[in-house]
Amino acid sequence: MPTLEELETPTPIVDLDRLERNLDRMAQYAVEYGLSLRPHIKTHKSPMLATEQLRRGAIGLTCATAAEVEVMSAVGKDILLAYPAIGRARLERLMGVSSETRLTVALDSAEAIEQLAAAARAHDRSVSVLLEIDLGMHRVGVASVDRVIELINLVRARPPLMYAGIAFYPGHIRQSVSVQDESLAELSAALGSVLSELEQANLRPGIVSGGSTPTAFRTHEIEGVTEFRPGTYIFNDRTTCEIGACEKDDVALTVLATVVSTAVPGQAVIDAGSKALGREPLRAAGGGGFGVLAEHSEVTVKAMSEEHGLLDLQGSDWLPAIGDRVHVIPNHVCIVVHLNDVVHGIRNGVIETSWPVAARGR
Ligand SMILES: Cc1ncc(COP(=O)(O)O)c(C=O)c1O
Repeated sequence: MPTLEELETPTPIVDLDRLERNLDRMAQYAVEYGLSLRPHIKTHKSPMLATEQLRRGAIGLTCATAAEVEVMSAVGKDILLAYPAIGRARLERLMGVSSETRLTVALDSAEAIEQLAAAARAHDRSVSVLLEIDLGMHRVGVASVDRVIELINLVRARPPLMYAGIAFYPGHIRQSVSVQDESLAELSAALGSVLSELEQANLRPGIVSGGSTPTAFRTHEIEGVTEFRPGTYIFNDRTTCEIGACEKDDVALTVLATVVSTAVPGQAVIDAGSKALGREPLRAAGGGGFGVLAEHSEVTVKAMSEEHGLLDLQGSDWLPAIGDRVHVIPNHVCIVVHLNDVVHGIRNGVIETSWPVAARGR
């Protein structure tokens, strides 16, 4: 194992104490409010970390791609694909997952139901279905309850598919946690009316799956939710901080980078560009740039080439030297993880462990 000083940069490193605190906090919140935690593994893509989530009481895992389901089925026996399973290639991969793993798919169309039913029949495999509803995100999800009811009835007519419940994603709620009251009340009311209409139609959902990191610790305010699927919370990032869904010292993953040039006045260049940080905007109010330095919160990555990150030194009295190492808090951590093969876990300044980003790629 190299020492921290010997690590080649840029590289993602994880503060293991913070990681464990993030895992514990979410697990405790779930217990406190009687909510089932089904973390989205797209953030870490690591069976080792999924195991840590399950060990702390997560009831199962959420995935977005067939590759993630394949990799996670080695450790998770109850997996939700929160993505429409459209197309032969995707369905074949899904059906190839060990039958010991209970598979659930969230979908929003008759086409998705027919394709999944045909694949499930061909493989003689039962698959649970959550009907995706749109409660404000306007990405996927059925808008009217009548359509939800039609699709539930279609699922019920297509064994071995099984109607298990409904799903929604409150990804449109990205304002500060402290001012989410109105949005959460609206969401709760919208969900409440869907649930009462389903109840009247005798189609009460067993599972009501929602949740995100920005709303995670207020999930209990969305009445009717039975399980929640935060992903980003395991590492957190600049966006999560700006939203107030975590403190700065809850950011577990940073990109370790080296200052490689100070030739142009007013800026320094680090070796973390768009291939290390991703060209992700800050998904919250609070400033521009593609990341911020953990040790100098006034310094952002103002521009990038593929291998160059340009630090904006206007407004900072820090005088970087060539070879200095810095920790960049990325805007969106999930993309950073996806760009790397390996992540290093650090405790007390020492690399304690390293793990592969096993479910990256397709
Ligand atoms: C369907 C779905 N569920 C859950 C999540 C997790 O949300 P977050 O990234 O806020 O933790 C995502 C994130 O993209 C998602 O798309």
